[in-house]
Amino acid sequence: MSKPRVFSGMRPSGKLHIGNWLGALTNMVELQASYDCIYAAVDVHALTTDDGGSPESLRENVNEMVLDWLAAGIDPKESTVFVQSAVPEVMVLHTLLSMMTPLGWLLRVPTFKDKVRQMDATEESVGYGLVGYPVLMTSDIILYKADTVPVGEDQVPHIELAREIVRRFNSRYGDTFPEPQAKLTEVPLVVGLDGQAKMSKTLDNHVELAAAPEETKKKILTAFTDPERLRKSDPGRPWVCNVYALHKYFTPDQTDEIYEQCTQGTRGCVDCKGILADGVNARLADLRDKRRDLEKHPDYVQDILLDGANRAKEIARATLEEVQEKMGLSRANLERK
Ligand code: TRP
Repeated sequence: MSKPRVFSGMRPSGKLHIGNWLGALTNMVELQASYDCIYAAVDVHALTTDDGGSPESLRENVNEMVLDWLAAGIDPKESTVFVQSAVPEVMVLHTLLSMMTPLGWLLRVPTFKDKVRQMDATEESVGYGLVGYPVLMTSDIILYKADTVPVGEDQVPHIELAREIVRRFNSRYGDTFPEPQAKLTEVPLVVGLDGQAKMSKTLDNHVELAAAPEETKKKILTAFTDPERLRKSDPGRPWVCNVYALHKYFTPDQTDEIYEQCTQGTRGCVDCKGILADGVNARLADLRDKRRDLEKHPDYVQDILLDGANRAKEIARATLEEVQEKMGLSRANLERK
């Protein structure tokens, strides 16, 4: 029996941070053991919000993100790693699926409404591509006939929509695609250094995976802690402290001690942040070594992405050929001899 297939896409946001790592990347690495994994840097999705990034920065962001993936342990021999736009068949499938996707379904997707609000736009002023975001995501998944999609809670409505589209396609044109299943990953919500709900690059409350150890320390020293603890001797409240929250991931065998010292006012916040920084630096040392090594070999990384695109393309062309056949479209561009 072949392994079930996982597809996952990540928008290219450049260098990843420890929140991305704990929340998604470590899971992607682990899934490789039991699934046939296809991982794409979804650069076309990045264009849906048209946030003024330049073409150079888009390419750069893809590259930086892929370096983090590989450094973190995504193994290109095990998994197919590629850039979405390198397999343009996905855009063809997107167009075809858009014919059977009612606009109402798309306008109701909560992430669409959120994005419109975030962009200070209206449903009428945003690009057509943003409305179709979940259709493109469906195309990503089903082009490779993936049955399992590891996602966080926020993406569940997209997978629901993908299932609806698949059901439509299958009932209209015959059984073609498996209905993809969301595999909810227990995503620890990593709080920002400033205590905001989420670690994020835009809020600049993050620690980059690729940062140098000194830089990591400097950044962590800026973190907010319990705002009511003014002096070292004040008893702290680790349960409201974001630095303590990070200790749980990076210095698990010291958390009990830290909890005690904090609540008893025997260890100060600066000291505590120093321990965290050491823990983060220790945990990321191998990843950082590997990344530095990969940075020295840009051709090697490009070869991995080319090889991934070729592997993905093979599957994509076969699926599209089947789809075009079933829909009564020409397959002349795809037919393989
Ligand atoms: N929408 C996903 C996100 O923002 C990214 C994505 C694009 C994706 N295509 C996908 C995720 C396919 C899983 C499967 O996180």
